Amino acid sequence: MTDSVQRPVSRRSLLTGGALTVGGAVAGAAATAVVRDGGGTDPAKASTVDFGAQVVPFHGEHQAGVETPAQSHATFVALDLKPGVDRAALVRLMRLLTDDAARLAQGTAPLADGQPELAVLPARLTVTFGFGPALFDAAGLAGQRPESLQQLPPFDIDKLQPQWCEGDLLLQICADDPLTVAHAQRMLVKDSRAFATVRWVQRGFRRGRGVQDDGATQRNVLGQVDGTANPPPGTDVFAGAVWTDSGPDWLRGGTTLVLRRIRAELEAWDAADTDGKEFAVGRRLSDGAPLTGRAEHDPLDLAAKNAYGFPIISEFSHAARAHVLSDRQRIFRRPYNYDEPPDADGTADSGLIFAAYQRDVARQFLPIQRNLAEADLLNDWITPIGSAVFAIPPGCQPGGWIGQELLG
Ligand code: HEM
Repeated sequence: MTDSVQRPVSRRSLLTGGALTVGGAVAGAAATAVVRDGGGTDPAKASTVDFGAQVVPFHGEHQAGVETPAQSHATFVALDLKPGVDRAALVRLMRLLTDDAARLAQGTAPLADGQPELAVLPARLTVTFGFGPALFDAAGLAGQRPESLQQLPPFDIDKLQPQWCEGDLLLQICADDPLTVAHAQRMLVKDSRAFATVRWVQRGFRRGRGVQDDGATQRNVLGQVDGTANPPPGTDVFAGAVWTDSGPDWLRGGTTLVLRRIRAELEAWDAADTDGKEFAVGRRLSDGAPLTGRAEHDPLDLAAKNAYGFPIISEFSHAARAHVLSDRQRIFRRPYNYDEPPDADGTADSGLIFAAYQRDVARQFLPIQRNLAEADLLNDWITPIGSAVFAIPPGCQPGGWIGQELLG
C-alpha cells in the first residue's frame, strides 16, 4: 500500500493549498497548516487546517501504520485469546475487526457503535494487526509460524516486567488525535471481548501534528533527534528491509514487529552534561548531526580520529553499535514516547515504546540488539522493561480481511 493521505477538498483546504494528496515518505510542511483567514499574523484569528478529516487508506498490499508517516498518538493493545478460541473463531474475530478498522479509518462508524459521533474525524487513523507467537498454537497452525517469531532471548540489560510482555493479538492504533484513538480502541476491544482479554495497553505520543514540519525527524523524551538513520519510507531500501519476501507464503508483503518498552532514566540523564550525552549516542543534541558531520543526514564517519588518535564517534556509542552495513539488515524504527504519572518520590516514569519493523527478527533485530546489550554507552540511561514480538500480516483488499492468507 502506498500510505497516501486522502482528504475531502474543503474550501478551507483550498484556501491554504493544503488539499494535496500527500504521498508515502513525507507529508507537506506545517507551514501550510495555519489559515490566517484574513487575520494577518493575529493568532486569535488563525484557525487550523482540517487535519481531522485526513484519511489513510486501510486497504492495500501492506497494512497501513508501518510505512505511514507516524501519527501523533498511538495505543498498542495486546490481547490474549480466551481458552477454546480456535482457527474458526479467529476467522470470525479477524473478519469483524477488519471491518471495524476499515470503517473507522474512513471516518465511518463501525456496526453497533454506541457513539458514532466519535468516528467522524479519522485524523489519519490506522489500525495495524499483529499475531503473537502463541496465536499459531491456538489456531493449530504452529507449522506456519515464521521461524524467528519467538519472544526475544533475555539480555543482561533487561528488567522485564510481565505486565508489558508478550500477547497473542496486537492492535496498533495510531492517529493524530487522542480521542479518535480512544474511540477506535473501545470499538475494537468491545468486538474482541467474546474472543479475547486485554493483556496490556501502552499509550504513546509524538509531537502534536502541525507543531513542526511533518517531514522533520522528531525528538524523543531524552531530547535526542531520533529516526535519522531509518531506511526512508517509499524507497526500495525500505521495502527490502521491511516487507517480508521469504519464509511462509502467507507473510509475504507483511513484516514483523518487535515492541520494547524502554524506560529512560531521566534524572540521571538530566544530570549528565551535553558532551557526555552526545558522546553516548555519537550525534549532536542540537541538530542530530553525527559528531563527525555538519548536518543531520551526513553519514557517520566511524574511522575519523581526534587529535589524540581516538575515534571521534566512540565504538561504544549507540549509533556505532547499532549501525549495520547492509541495507537488508536495517530495521525501521517508529518509536513513541510514553510519560506516565511519576512515582511517589517524583521519579519520572517515562521512556520509549520502541517499535521496530523488519523482514526477519533473527537476521535484523537480534544482531543489533545483541550489539547494544553487550556495550552501548546509552545503556546507563535506558532499561528495557517490556518486550513482545508480532508477525504483521500483509494488507487486504476491500472484501478481504487481515490474516486471510494464514487463517482462511
Ligand atoms: C530508549 C531507547 C533508545 C533510544 C533513546 C535510542 C535513540 C537513538 C538515537 C538518538 C539514534 C540516532 C539518530 C537516529 O539515527 O535515529 C539512534 C539510532 C539508532 N538506534 Fe536507537 N535508541 C534506543 C533504542 C534502540 C534499540 C532497542 C535499537 C535496536 C535494537 C536501536 C537501534 C538503532 C539503530 C539501528 C539506529 C541507527 C544507527 C545508524 O545506522 O546510524 N535503538 N537511536
